[in-house]
Amino acid sequence: MAKKLAAGNWKMNGTGADLAQVSALIAAHPAPKCDILICPPATLLSRMSDAAKGSAVKTGGQDCHADASGAHTGDISALMLADTGASHVILGHSERRADHGETDAQVRAKALAAQAAGLIAVICVGETEAQRDAGDTLSVIASQLAGSLPDSCTAVNTVIAYEPVWAIGTGRVPTTDQIAQVHDLMRDALTARFGDADMTLLYGGSVKPDNAAEIFAVANVDGALVGGASLKAADFSTIIAALDAS
Ligand code: PGA
Repeated sequence: MAKKLAAGNWKMNGTGADLAQVSALIAAHPAPKCDILICPPATLLSRMSDAAKGSAVKTGGQDCHADASGAHTGDISALMLADTGASHVILGHSERRADHGETDAQVRAKALAAQAAGLIAVICVGETEAQRDAGDTLSVIASQLAGSLPDSCTAVNTVIAYEPVWAIGTGRVPTTDQIAQVHDLMRDALTARFGDADMTLLYGGSVKPDNAAEIFAVANVDGALVGGASLKAADFSTIIAALDAS
């Protein structure tokens, strides 16, 4: 059985005052069945990791450089993330792919670095609306998986997030059939390539308290990567409870 994970992606949101949201989350979920992860901006990682120490809440970065150190102004390495107490790092999010031109090959190199640093790589894939309209969704996902995952991926060091680009931050969500179709394809492709049927597969894109239970009932959905609804403890808490109940 794949390990269930409720992951929050704070994106470029949050300052010290928002650590109170994490304290509230910790208090609300002393012994969850699923894993809980918050990926705050890098500026908050150390403080959040310290605040979450000994609790059920894990912390992660939102990106890392493929090198361990060096002359890369503004970048952060996987080793540095691990040094803050982080256990995960999101890689290849569509906002990174779009805003920074990240390619599958770069995501793969970052995933290798993350795994080498002992982090769990949360690797994102997802089609644009134009690709879905053209009927290319499954081939796009298969090709992103093939290109973005290093051969070293296992169920222990890798989580995959399916995030349709058109569903992120829009309030639009694929039908449960559409989610099932992609998650079934991912399970089959990953099992065929890695021989490991237990990789955690997240759905992401406009997951909210009121649609979480329906999404978690879909086969091969092992949790969610949540943006906007992870910023407030009350909303994220409802999503965590839905995953625990699924
Ligand atoms: P959203 O973002 O939940 O705000 O749609 C999801 C994501 O980009 O990870």
